[in-house]
Amino acid sequence: MTKNRSIAIDGPAGAGKSTIAKEIAAKLDMIYVDTGAMYRAMAIYFLSLGLDGKDEAGICAACGGADVSVIYENGAQQLIVNGENVTPRLREEVVGQMASNCAVYGPVRSKLVELQRELADRTPVIMDGRDIGSVVLPNAGLKVYLTASVEERARRRYKELIEKGETCDIIEVEKTIADRDYQDMHRENSPLCQAEDAVLVDSSNMTAAQVVDTILDLYRKAVAE
Ligand code: DC
Repeated sequence: MTKNRSIAIDGPAGAGKSTIAKEIAAKLDMIYVDTGAMYRAMAIYFLSLGLDGKDEAGICAACGGADVSVIYENGAQQLIVNGENVTPRLREEVVGQMASNCAVYGPVRSKLVELQRELADRTPVIMDGRDIGSVVLPNAGLKVYLTASVEERARRRYKELIEKGETCDIIEVEKTIADRDYQDMHRENSPLCQAEDAVLVDSSNMTAAQVVDTILDLYRKAVAE
């Protein structure tokens, strides 16, 4: 299999994938594709129709009505659904939950995988998600499985929420993350897993800068091969 110059980063919620991928994209002058944002954009559409995350028939039937596209404004990814820029709503908790629910269904996944491959066909990208190395970009020049302990991911998320002025309970934050991990890892369609040829990076005891340097080092070696 001929490898290309793209980078695939997969891993569980809160592992720091997007922070790391954005920095690497800037350093390598590459486009960063956040695929979680695409599932979140679909989730906003399903929520706007009043659908329940467990309503498989309703979600699969509605799927075709969402015209999802990605544009870049000053390097930042924007998600457009049926002409509306939904980017400001993507990080809402209810949207993340619905994204994890609707990501279980085949028609939602195949629609977004097609869009993801189209983006990567144009230019080398750094793409993060749950199935990038295993399904979306099997030929990626470097595949990383970025993880951290559930306790550490909860600590980071808790700190972020507190800094935003939200009130929350760290035990609840940890439970939400553990539930999301379970759902993402145990679904039938493209579950979160470490691709056979992905390098495991456990960031539990690493700073973001150390993770970035580690991945840049891996990339230089991978593309030099
Ligand atoms: O990375 P995130 O939290 O923005 O992702 C939201 C949800 O979308 C996540 O819980 C599972 C789903 N997802 C997926 O199934 N496959 C991807 N490639 C990216 C995200």
